[in-house]
Amino acid sequence: MNIGIIGSGAREHSICYKLKQSKIVKNLYCIPGNAGTSEICNNINININNFDEIYKVVIAKKIELIVVGPEEPLVNGITDFFEKKNINIFGPSKMASRLEGSKAFMKGICKEFAIPSAKYEEINNLDEANKALEKFKVPIVVKSDALAGGKGVTICNTKQDAFNDIKNILSGKFEKSKKVIIEEFLQGEEASYFVVTDGENYIPIGTAQDHKRIGENDTGLNTGGMGAYSPSFLISKEVDKKIKKTIIEPTINAMKAKGCPYKGILYAGLMINKSQPKLIEYNIRFGDPECQVLMMRLNNDLLEIIQSTLNKKLDKIEINWNNDFCMTIVAASKGYPEKFEKLKEIKNISEFGKSSSKQLFHASTIKGKDGKIYSNGGRVLSSTVLNKSLKEARKEALKILDSIDWENKYYRRDIGYRIIDK
Ligand code: AMP
Ligand code: GLY
Repeated sequence: MNIGIIGSGAREHSICYKLKQSKIVKNLYCIPGNAGTSEICNNINININNFDEIYKVVIAKKIELIVVGPEEPLVNGITDFFEKKNINIFGPSKMASRLEGSKAFMKGICKEFAIPSAKYEEINNLDEANKALEKFKVPIVVKSDALAGGKGVTICNTKQDAFNDIKNILSGKFEKSKKVIIEEFLQGEEASYFVVTDGENYIPIGTAQDHKRIGENDTGLNTGGMGAYSPSFLISKEVDKKIKKTIIEPTINAMKAKGCPYKGILYAGLMINKSQPKLIEYNIRFGDPECQVLMMRLNNDLLEIIQSTLNKKLDKIEINWNNDFCMTIVAASKGYPEKFEKLKEIKNISEFGKSSSKQLFHASTIKGKDGKIYSNGGRVLSSTVLNKSLKEARKEALKILDSIDWENKYYRRDIGYRIIDK
């Protein structure tokens, strides 16, 4: 089977790596991909939101299945577009993608179906803002309704800050967002919980701990994620049961009841406090960097899971995990998530991370005309290691990054510190 993978991050590199192991896969096409995916796939450099152009490639290359990595094309309706053309595509429909694409929709589902989540108010104008703010104590969490490239959430320590942030969003800070959600601040520890669902059946497909802050000890600005490990230690059997019963199952049923059954990967961002899980957000895809650790631990054929989702046969699948821990450490360009330089050569990259227990996944990398590999964005590499000991996994992942000859590299050395270094 020929497969097209949409996206260009380390998440997509790890999906390609995993699909490459499937006996049923013939050719992989990554759209647009990165220097890492070009070693195992054919990269095709087109815009992931230009569905007509992608369709031309699908026809020309006889692609039989499309796997979508990032949220934006899903929210824009890529699944509906290709389903209409009778091409198999793995990812939720435009209506179902509102679970990530509209915080107001997602919070509405939580309210209507009694899914535990932060208390909230929806705000459409400044009058409503003043009234709503009266109902909350600081800190107050202010969120843009629509996608905002990971920059749509601010935790405000004064009501004035919250008001100013609301005003900025309502006056177009994030073009697409005309609404604001404000929420109570939840205490606890965050965990990422993944399921795959065909709209009826679902199976858990792993847990992970992301590390979103740029600095060690979780300090500094929020990023896309600087490292992750799997499985999460926060999710005991008891907590797992609660997550399924109070969050995942009601959501799958709610989406069916709303006439937009959810098919694909559903990623719940959870806050866990004294063994009580609450939903912070839904994402409609695998997380990055969480995907990298899940793909290393998953023993199943990923294509078989995807096909069973599309054929509504997920109940026949049994997930089989590698019992080792997996950690990934993200190397970013120095200065990320603010200003940073691009197009710095990464000299000896091809020497590292090429076994079933060690992978150096690429994110923003490109191959120059000279055949050399250059950094091309914020998050650049994802050093990923499986090991019986989480501490050893970190040591090995760091060793790979330490050996890389790239003057502009920055990474945290403390991923997993709450467990390893306590
Ligand atoms: P979101 O895009 O909704 O996941 O928010 C991004 C990050 O903001 C989350 O991963 C949390 O760290 C933080 N966050 C969002 N909502 C809340 C909340 N209600 N309470 C505490 N932290 C939050
Ligand atoms: N790691 C967070 C995300 O993918 O949204």
